[in-house]
Amino acid sequence: MECHDRSFVIAVDLSFAGDDARFEAVDRTGTYAITEGYAAKCGYSVTVSPASGRAELRASYFSCHTDKRDDRAFAFRFNLLSRRDGDVVYGLNKTCVPSLKWSPREVSCELNYMEVSVDSGVSCAAGTKEDNRNVLRHAHGSSTSDWQVMFQRDEEQMEPMSLRDAEEQGYAFHLGGERLVFRTPYGQPDSFMAMVNGIPVEVVHATLVSRRRWSLIMVDLVATCSMHQGAYEDDGHVVFKTPEAPYPGPNVTRVGVSFDGGIFEDGGSGDVVTENDTVRIRIPLDAKGGLRKSFASGDLYEFYTFHVHLEQMFEDEDAETRLRLHRMLTTPLLPRPLFTQNRSVIEERLFQVYLGDVPQDVRLVLLRLNGREALYTNSCSVAAVAQPSRGHGYLLKVSFDDPAVTQRYQQVYGTVQYSLDINYTLSVLPENELYAYSVSVTALAGPSPPVLNAVCSESGISFDADHWAFDFLWSIGVGSDTLTPELAARRGYKMSNQSHKLQLDVPLHSRGFRYEEITLERFLGTFEILVKERQTGAVEKAVTKTCPFVTSELIVCSTDGRMTVVADLSRITPSGAAPSTSNLLDTFCGPAEADDTRALFSFPLNSCRSKVKLHRGHVIYQNEIFYSGSEDADERFESDDPGTGSVIFTKRPAAGIGTAALRGPVTTTRAAPTTAAAMRSSATPARKRLGSNPAVRYVRVSKHGKPHTDVKKGANGYGWQRGRNGIDF
Ligand SMILES: *[C@@H]1O[C@H](CO)[C@@H](O)[C@H](O)[C@H]1NC(C)=O
Ligand SMILES: *[C@@H]1O[C@H](CO)[C@@H](O)[C@H](O)[C@H]1NC(C)=O
Ligand SMILES: *[C@@H]1O[C@H](CO)[C@@H](O)[C@H](O)[C@H]1NC(C)=O
Ligand SMILES: *[C@@H]1O[C@H](CO)[C@@H](O)[C@H](O)[C@H]1NC(C)=O
Ligand SMILES: *[C@@H]1O[C@H](CO)[C@@H](O)[C@H](O)[C@H]1NC(C)=O
Ligand SMILES: *[C@@H]1O[C@H](CO)[C@@H](O)[C@H](O)[C@H]1NC(C)=O
Repeated sequence: MECHDRSFVIAVDLSFAGDDARFEAVDRTGTYAITEGYAAKCGYSVTVSPASGRAELRASYFSCHTDKRDDRAFAFRFNLLSRRDGDVVYGLNKTCVPSLKWSPREVSCELNYMEVSVDSGVSCAAGTKEDNRNVLRHAHGSSTSDWQVMFQRDEEQMEPMSLRDAEEQGYAFHLGGERLVFRTPYGQPDSFMAMVNGIPVEVVHATLVSRRRWSLIMVDLVATCSMHQGAYEDDGHVVFKTPEAPYPGPNVTRVGVSFDGGIFEDGGSGDVVTENDTVRIRIPLDAKGGLRKSFASGDLYEFYTFHVHLEQMFEDEDAETRLRLHRMLTTPLLPRPLFTQNRSVIEERLFQVYLGDVPQDVRLVLLRLNGREALYTNSCSVAAVAQPSRGHGYLLKVSFDDPAVTQRYQQVYGTVQYSLDINYTLSVLPENELYAYSVSVTALAGPSPPVLNAVCSESGISFDADHWAFDFLWSIGVGSDTLTPELAARRGYKMSNQSHKLQLDVPLHSRGFRYEEITLERFLGTFEILVKERQTGAVEKAVTKTCPFVTSELIVCSTDGRMTVVADLSRITPSGAAPSTSNLLDTFCGPAEADDTRALFSFPLNSCRSKVKLHRGHVIYQNEIFYSGSEDADERFESDDPGTGSVIFTKRPAAGIGTAALRGPVTTTRAAPTTAAAMRSSATPARKRLGSNPAVRYVRVSKHGKPHTDVKKGANGYGWQRGRNGIDF
């Protein structure tokens, strides 16, 4: 709430008060709602501007409900009513003492009314004769009923009427203080329009008359206000005109202009020109204090609003006149075209479209790509971009391979036409008025192989292609085979292939899987599919997925000639068995790993006495797992020193090339092995499959003392044969 030169100015933030905030004037006699009609009659002016987010109430110092203390100090009380949080009433008051000296005559051309005030000490005649002053002074004491008012329209003089009657017709008078005040809304029957230098003006001419015994007092109250609406010039200016003087004759002493309600700038700057008795104000669209607003109606428009405050001072022979004019100028709706720029990069297979010149009060709310709402992913994004001038922009990036992009194969050229119809839906704030803008982009590029995603599951590996375009161009290979429904059925792959979506589920252990890092807990399974150019069979890319799986039972022959077996021995042996004591046909070949129920063997195909057979074009390697089932864990080999050996060549190398001996008193049925690999097996004591010697359970190689052997016999005399628990594979 501020004291301006001739009015209280109250500004309210709409976000606080709400769009439907209302004001009430308050004085000793009561509370008065400031409605539109009441405001024009009583000297209030309310503007609500969503563009600036403000509501403004200006109350003339002579408004109906100000407390005019001798017309020197003015107090105003009012209520602000907000419905935002229920009906809330904010009571405010302020007292202003205008610092600007009152001119003998002041005319105010407000937005909704005209107001004239004259110093009650000024007589109608020239000079300041004491008599005249005293005569007019008695206006102080007189009641308004003593006065009458006569209006003049053009040259026509109306019948006088009482002030009471005039007030009923919408006029307002204030006669009791230092100044005589008269106010009228625009467009009253007693005012008239006229043209001054080609500019429309509204004129009101009231004459107050008081007849007292021998004296007749007449006070002329004239207001002439420019009704020029402002004109838009295509070079981006709004031009406002007002007559240099409201009537011919007076010397003009000053013209001041302000666009934002602030300090009046003296005319004379390039934008305020006085010519041919006309003051011409040119306002550039970006003038300080101007308000810009977007508007959507089919197309996108914008308009500008300027609050022009003009002050003119005239010097007459008898007195000075100050004229203040307040006008709100609005440009017509000006087209506000947006533009798009195609910044696509074919090498990156990327559509890039820039939408620019988007006004600050307009936001992108929805984006449709080829008719579908855009999904923002790795291959589709939109970002707001600041623009050095004129608003902001949006940069849309969509990969050619995004599902939203339409692809059309051009057989003749072997290229693909990628196209994207972009439909932007923009919203004008704060009303959320929607505006749609569309643009299409296309690009030619080679087809890209389909993108396949792979995921691990508990039971296998799944591959899928979301956007399986041009399947006539591409095929899928598993190794050297081409994936077809028949191949899938034969190998137990689950495949679905419809409406540009391909899904392939490969169950674990089905053909094509590779296995690595096998332990008792887990192993890695790998499956690879190849995307091939259908015509040439050239591999375009390989999609390889490796997943960890939990090991239960497993047998794998790897390409480098190794057999790896995880066998659950609990299924075939009595409980309490120790899989760690199992071995292959070759009793030196024990498990690499074992737990309570399972043993893991890993050995070259041709070792551990595997049997080899040929069968229908396959080489079959067969071995057996033997298992004593003994809980006795006494099978041990201990030696104080490492063994040594020497190589002796004989004439029949097949009979064996190596012998080795451990020095010291040793009793075993077999020579100790010489290779490091075999040393591990040596922990499992030798047991002969056939022969007269029973299995040796404990071998001790000692430097001193007696050799110690402990031979345990099975029920049938051969420990290894008990139960003959074997697994053939
Ligand atoms: C005027 O406002 C002040 C607070 O600014 C308050 O204390 C005072 O009571 C108000 N006066 C009236 C008459 O409302
Ligand atoms: C205007 O000013 C000129 C020179 O200052 C003076 O001679 C003339 O009388 C003035 N006219 C009016 C109407 O005051
Ligand atoms: C002023 O009047 C002259 C003569 O009538 C005319 O040529 C000129 O264009 C007018 N200037 C403006 C700004 O209207
Ligand atoms: C764009 O979207 C708007 C609003 O959703 C719709 O009215 C308009 O027809 C669409 N234009 C095109 C070219 O798809
Ligand atoms: C857009 O840009 C791409 C890449 O420069 C170009 O191939 C295409 O012709 C351009 N025009 C349209 C309308 O998409
Ligand atoms: C998927 O189906 C299309 C025809 O609908 C066919 O051309 C294509 O070869 C099929 N893909 C596979 C991998 O079977």
